[in-house]
Amino acid sequence: MALEKLRKEETFAMRKRLIGQSCRLFYSDDPVKIMKARGQYLFDENGKRYLDCISNVHHVGHCHPSITKAAAEQMDLLNTNARFLHDNIVMYADRLAATLPEKLCVFYFVNSGSEANDLALRLAQQYTQHQDVIVLDHAYHGHLMSLIDISPYKFRKLAGQKEWVHVAPIPDTYRGIYREDHPNPGQAYADTVKDLIEEVHRKGRKISAFFAESLPSVGGQIILPEGYSSKVAEYVRSAGGVFVADEVQTGFGRVGSHFWAFQLQGEDFCPDIVTMGKPMGNGHPLACVATTVEIAGAFTANGVEYFNTFGGNPVSCAIGLAVLDVIEKEDLRGNATRVGAHLKDLLTKLQTQHQIIGDVRGVGLFVGLELVSDRDQKTPATETAARVVKRLKEEDQICVSTDGPWENVVKFKPPMCFSMEDAELAVQCIDRILTDEKEASDI
Ligand SMILES: Cc1ncc(COP(=O)(O)O)c(C=O)c1O
Repeated sequence: MALEKLRKEETFAMRKRLIGQSCRLFYSDDPVKIMKARGQYLFDENGKRYLDCISNVHHVGHCHPSITKAAAEQMDLLNTNARFLHDNIVMYADRLAATLPEKLCVFYFVNSGSEANDLALRLAQQYTQHQDVIVLDHAYHGHLMSLIDISPYKFRKLAGQKEWVHVAPIPDTYRGIYREDHPNPGQAYADTVKDLIEEVHRKGRKISAFFAESLPSVGGQIILPEGYSSKVAEYVRSAGGVFVADEVQTGFGRVGSHFWAFQLQGEDFCPDIVTMGKPMGNGHPLACVATTVEIAGAFTANGVEYFNTFGGNPVSCAIGLAVLDVIEKEDLRGNATRVGAHLKDLLTKLQTQHQIIGDVRGVGLFVGLELVSDRDQKTPATETAARVVKRLKEEDQICVSTDGPWENVVKFKPPMCFSMEDAELAVQCIDRILTDEKEASDI
């Protein structure tokens, strides 16, 4: 059966004409037209296979048959909104609760990471009766107006910073204000939040929430230093605020050793609100907010119903349950641990051969390769990073992309079925391209 309904050039031309140009394409000069996918592989209109190193949404693998089956069976039986009593929503909430610390036991189901973060903001503001929010520099939390306001990555290019939003330095121990050589970067970065809270109080304002990704992604695949989150939570709570962990990119076992990336900060750390999305439905729009009885109680107390037409419907929850089953049955957390460690190891070896690799960091299948043209100055090698992305696609059919304020961090966030061989292939190709790039610059 021919999957292509239009020739690629026609699709491209129609896309340009009909779809808002701010909705950008990957490889915008020569986009890839993907017609089907399986596992960690994408196939274009000619059947050419691409290795997907970045789709963290297709968490258990593209078009996983168990997910498709669960969706089709439930779709065939019933799909209603969550105002009717149904088993799936409660069974799913119960399974999610089992992955989280005990106090995070109330759930709201929504359709996207943005909806989850917008609701988290409402919950925090309603509970604390305060307005102000502290976020990390370069953060992205979603596309709604409320979230553009708390996303420096976006608002710096738009209307600017609102008076109720305060930006803390990103705890990046590679190029941030406190680095690996600092005796306690976790404490030092947490103290920047403490200082910010004091400044907010001096202005007569009050903190409702500290909002951060458990591993800042757009910020450049950053691993938070030890002790940071507990200290920040202590400062924020003593100011009457709550700690919101955005797990939209990092949840569901991506880090391997733990189900949630915030758990990397230790047993004693527990956020007050956790938001989740992308990997949750393996491509189906499914997202969620988990919080405490107290915060949910304050939200209920305003007397206004929270109704979300699609959130928590029986099909979405059947898919969510199937995703959890596959993560367990296929030991995808174990795979993320093993393959992620191998990938990091290979990239670290590559660093000894290529001066341009300034840093290799990551945990599980959340890995970043930071390219710099000068190791001492840490000058971002943005153009080389862009060429690596382009050449990997054109020469090797490998899809990667970049992150970080200077777009010089090549990121890996592949489906969790990514294999040892996939990791080896990607690193071999990067090695060849960096060797070429060096030779070209030496000429
Ligand atoms: C960390 C983080 N939070 C929230 C969002 C928003 O999620 P969505 O695009 O599903 O609305 C994103 C999307 O990229 C994200 O990366």
